Amino acid sequence: MTSNPQPQPRTDASVHEYGRDFLTFSVQHGIHCVPIDDEELNRQADFYDVVSRLFERRLFLPTDLAPEFILDCGSGGGIEWAEEVMEKSELGPGSSSSEDDDFACQVSLDVKKRWNLNEPFRYDQEELARDKYDLVNSRFLADSINASRWASYVQDLHDRLRDGGWLQMLEAQFNIQSRSGRPLEYLSRWWNIYSQALERQNKDPRVGTELPRHLHNAGFINIAVEPKQLPVGEWHQDPRLREVGRDMKSVALQTLRSLGIWHCRQAGMQESDFEDLIAGCEREVSDMSLRLYIPM
Ligand SMILES: C[S@@+](CC[C@H](N)C(=O)[O-])C[C@H]1O[C@@H](n2cnc3c(N)ncnc32)[C@H](O)[C@@H]1O
Repeated sequence: MTSNPQPQPRTDASVHEYGRDFLTFSVQHGIHCVPIDDEELNRQADFYDVVSRLFERRLFLPTDLAPEFILDCGSGGGIEWAEEVMEKSELGPGSSSSEDDDFACQVSLDVKKRWNLNEPFRYDQEELARDKYDLVNSRFLADSINASRWASYVQDLHDRLRDGGWLQMLEAQFNIQSRSGRPLEYLSRWWNIYSQALERQNKDPRVGTELPRHLHNAGFINIAVEPKQLPVGEWHQDPRLREVGRDMKSVALQTLRSLGIWHCRQAGMQESDFEDLIAGCEREVSDMSLRLYIPM
């Protein structure tokens, strides 16, 4: 129970704004204000592919784990991840989800539970029962989980794991950095608007750096932290990372567009101002001498 219950999504109703489709629940409650249209689904698929290559297609860190029960927090690319994990561990053919809720946890592949993760988990919910899961996946939820909820969210995930279970978390900070040390005009401007909008929605856009502390406080042991720099552009000396950076260039621009459109337009930007901002970001992303990367 909580004294301040969080709103729960009841439907997948959507609203068309700024030429894109958004989940009504998201924009009404300031949670993950990102489009839900085909353009965004394609972007997510491309983004997850690049991120997966950054991590050399590793699915999860503990190699000796054969998970039977998996919880994936927030619907999206995590479903394919859970299916791959299940196939690799040879525990099942990995049936896909029957429903297609936008706001959901994916549990054990064939069950989806529509649930706002900002609300503390209750023990009477079968899908969120204590000591149930072998593996929990939580990725890219910085614009989704309230800043004050992260500590109890990680604790809730900890308590859903059986003894010996594992939690895998991944967050990106879309404050694109330059190894050149030169200032970034448009990319910094985008980040300032985006991060300030998230903060107004009580989110922590830099939560990735806080995760080790939350994991430790929740009682996790064997915590492995693997910071990565996702290259943007074809500048890296390592051939594998150069390819990742080459493909990330267009995905980065789509990401700035998808993650930024709601917040920039809500901050009063006209369509032409937003397009100018993205065009400026594109010029910077195309300048290989800047050697850009996204911290993960
Ligand atoms: C960026 S995706 C990533 C999650 C996915 N598990 C993955 O690993 O690819 C974010 C998804 O989480 C959902 N989501 C965002 N905030 C949520 C919340 N507070 N509760 C439940 N789902 C949420 C969104 O609807 C969106 O489908």
